[in-house]
Amino acid sequence: MATKDSIYECEVCGNVVETLRGGIAPLICCGKPMVERFPQTEDKGNEKHKPVVEFHPDKIVVKIGEVPHPMEEKHHIEWIEFRRKDDFVIRKEVIDQDVAEATFEIPPQKGVVFAFCNIHGLWKTDVNPS
Ligand SMILES: [Fe+2]
Repeated sequence: MATKDSIYECEVCGNVVETLRGGIAPLICCGKPMVERFPQTEDKGNEKHKPVVEFHPDKIVVKIGEVPHPMEEKHHIEWIEFRRKDDFVIRKEVIDQDVAEATFEIPPQKGVVFAFCNIHGLWKTDVNPS
């Protein structure tokens, strides 16, 4: 069963999909069920992935990790996404950037930021400007 607003990855070919609507059937790729990737929220070890959010008057800047995450061919952040409860979503591909960072041209507001590392999977942090 696939659930709404979830990330699934094929462990054979590496396809990644995000569901817009849930369904009773599993998602299949390369003849096998895709694996749901649940967001991680706490870094362990030296590599840092938890999105760090900066608030500006007219934008939100998201950097991946307290220590900048590598952006190398073999290890990189693929995309960064801002999501509100009402399904307003902005996703930025950052795979070709030198720095794992995205700027969202929206005023600071509540939501969740997700980031996807090609090796370490899905990460999230809550956005709650004070
Ligand atoms: Fe990583």
